[in-house]
Amino acid sequence: MLAMLDLALAGQRVLIREDFNVPLKNGRITDDTRLRAGLPTLQAAQRAGARVLVLSHLGRPTEGHFDPSASLAPVAAALSELLGQPVRLARDWLNGVTCAPGEVVLCENVRFEVGEEKNDDALARRMAALCDIFVNDAFATAHRAQASTHGVAKYAPIACAGPLMNAEITALKQALRAPVRPLVAIVGGSKVSTKLEVLEALLGKVDQLIVGGGIANTFLRATGAEVGRSLCEHDMLDTARRIMSAAQARGAEIPLLVDVVCGKAFAEDTPATTKMVADILPDDLIMDIGPLTAQRFAEILQSAGTIVWNGPVGVFEFAQFAGGTQALAQAIAASPAFSIAGGGDTLAAIAQFGISAQVSYISTAGGAFLEYLEGKILPAVAILEARGQAENPTPARTPQ
Ligand code: 3PG
Repeated sequence: MLAMLDLALAGQRVLIREDFNVPLKNGRITDDTRLRAGLPTLQAAQRAGARVLVLSHLGRPTEGHFDPSASLAPVAAALSELLGQPVRLARDWLNGVTCAPGEVVLCENVRFEVGEEKNDDALARRMAALCDIFVNDAFATAHRAQASTHGVAKYAPIACAGPLMNAEITALKQALRAPVRPLVAIVGGSKVSTKLEVLEALLGKVDQLIVGGGIANTFLRATGAEVGRSLCEHDMLDTARRIMSAAQARGAEIPLLVDVVCGKAFAEDTPATTKMVADILPDDLIMDIGPLTAQRFAEILQSAGTIVWNGPVGVFEFAQFAGGTQALAQAIAASPAFSIAGGGDTLAAIAQFGISAQVSYISTAGGAFLEYLEGKILPAVAILEARGQAENPTPARTPQ
């Protein structure tokens, strides 16, 4: 991929695709992590004297309609504050936008445009016509082949990766291509079925695979243990057994739960009882890992060389079931390993337990992070690679 920082941007119309799909409540941004992550890219383009046009989606509005609740107006306001200069929101941007060197203009939600989702060629060409250089910096949207993530990169005069896109891919490669061993992956979540591809892909790479949540319950049940009324996919027991024997065959370990924290109802006020796995009753719900299991996981993480974390190991939103995920978070924070984390719940846990400074790399991506772990080709990355290989122009300055 060509890199934005290697190109001469002065005076150029630079169209930067960011993922500013931030959570909103009553029109206010509740977490601006994605804005802060993309900010250095906008600033670098600005400093280089580019005319900066920014593209993003927000939510999943119906194409062809302006929906005020999906407007990027709150994002434009937040960016103006973060950049310390006004960021204009252009509603009718597809027909052309005037933008001075050093100015930043935010184009209104790209998902209002008909053809965005289906990667419509005509729409992609119109986007490409707006710029001299297209920069994709939106790793979090790289699993979508849409007009603003894929099509535009085919037709823009130059298409390159932004610094955030590069940083995300570099961190993931460091964790998965040539990891410092042992490589430990933590995969939490409610269902084996939704994480099956991730589990299978990681299985071929990791030294230890820690599973949590409903996934761990399913693995436990597959060994014959009682799991009561816990979240468990009874039709995936054979799959779980197959994964466990495949792990064993290549000398990888999937440590099972030895103790758990149970409740009688999935409720914020249900009392919590810590017990050994052998003592789980038919009316119990496993809501967290127990302290002995947490201790075992912490030891594994302490001696890890690389840690990949996706998904909590308990219902950490309820205080009485947060202990396991908290212990895991603290063990990751204390480990000397290179650690990378991604996914909505995982980021919420990192924020809740205050360990963001101790995780080596926190991805801004949810779905794209998972698809990368699954070993899938991300279309928005693939097109940048294809363009980079096809064009290979002489960089304006040599990378350091
Ligand atoms: C995300 O939040 O994971 C990305 O912004 C992609 O959003 P989407 O799932 O609506 O395409």
